[in-house]
Amino acid sequence: MRFAPDRPLGVTPASVRDLRERARRRIPRQLFDYIDGGAYEEVTMRANEAELAAIGLRQRVLRDVGRLDLSAVVLGEQLAMPVLLAPVGLAGMFARRAEVQAARAAESAGVVFCESTVSICSIDEVRGAVGRPPWFQLYVMRDRSFAEGLMARAAIAGCPVLVLTVDFPVLGERYRDTRNGMSGPQGALVRARRAIDLGSHPHWVRHVALDGRPHTFGNLEEAVPGATTPDQFKDWVDGQFDPSVTWDDLDWVRRNWSGRLVLKGVLDPDDARRAADHGVDGVIVSNHGGRQLDGVSASITALPGVVDAVGDRVEVLMDGGIRSGLDVAKALALGARACLVGRAWAWAVAAGGEAGVAQMLTTVRRELEVAMALTGTTSIDQLSPETLLRPGRPSTI
Ligand SMILES: Cc1cc2nc3c(=O)[nH]c(=O)nc-3n(C[C@H](O)[C@H](O)[C@H](O)COP(=O)(O)O)c2cc1C
Repeated sequence: MRFAPDRPLGVTPASVRDLRERARRRIPRQLFDYIDGGAYEEVTMRANEAELAAIGLRQRVLRDVGRLDLSAVVLGEQLAMPVLLAPVGLAGMFARRAEVQAARAAESAGVVFCESTVSICSIDEVRGAVGRPPWFQLYVMRDRSFAEGLMARAAIAGCPVLVLTVDFPVLGERYRDTRNGMSGPQGALVRARRAIDLGSHPHWVRHVALDGRPHTFGNLEEAVPGATTPDQFKDWVDGQFDPSVTWDDLDWVRRNWSGRLVLKGVLDPDDARRAADHGVDGVIVSNHGGRQLDGVSASITALPGVVDAVGDRVEVLMDGGIRSGLDVAKALALGARACLVGRAWAWAVAAGGEAGVAQMLTTVRRELEVAMALTGTTSIDQLSPETLLRPGRPSTI
């Protein structure tokens, strides 16, 4: 089945920012804020972008950049460019069957889609809609046997890589979500405000809420039998985050997953070393897009330390604040094997479904090409600290 975009994309958005603005107009405020917001005062979330913006690129000239090779092999996967769609929970509420639409756009662009545990579309639905199996992201849940079942399901679906998210033993508060009733207690007033917000987006109600049926979390239906609303699933998920999780649990995952294993949410070089000692194939330098502990390091600032610590042993990926191909070039120059984008695809799918995500990936690719050409770089592996104004560390222009 093919989906029409929830609404035609309209005048071609020039940038990820344009897609964000379009998403703001198209989906209910509570959903836009859920995507857009971060933890507490959102200092780390802003730092993710600001620290990237502060890195300067070094312009080089007369280097024959007529042929550019953006391809890369990331954890065994041949990609058309080293960009992946990060796991984003609840995406099927932003557009009709959004995980399927995004996975299709990723496949067409030759990149990887990573399916979140808390997706609306199940891993099997996504797998059935694309030729390339997605990666699967897992939270360590209190119910370990259910998590084992999910790993088995992902393996049967052919997912080559499991992304284990470890920066979520407790939930960092997002004030926007609390205010909007997306998390925390909901009195009658909050419930009424939420209903008015949803109802004032009739196009979203028709095309996403009614046609898209985002009522259940596809991967968790067996865990919450009989549940018929997203809030029932959210309550179950909130009770499943396990603060007692330790490195022993990583060994348990390793025993249950024979494919490639990546640890997501590492900022500290010591943790990265320990992860490598426990046999992971890669780490993702990430602060969950500034959605967990406000005040921790921007991802791009943490990246060089992690690369120094384990870059010769495991693959180091990063996410957080990537809004353009220029940002991708900077992260790769500082040692990332690839970047994941979270909000960029969430805004894009809300703005225009599959076409929106395709447009976002085209934009990022074009920007990366320009960054490479004007820094005199013709292949991804040539991006290095030398590509940056002050090699080796973030610098003020
Ligand atoms: C709306 C939203 C939902 C997310 N849900 C998940 C999730 O289910 N699992 C996960 O590991 N990370 C999740 N993340 C974090 C992303 O995978 C990624 O780390 C982050 O978005 C990167 O930062 P960026 O949004 O600035 O690109 C989510 C992020 C957003 C914005």
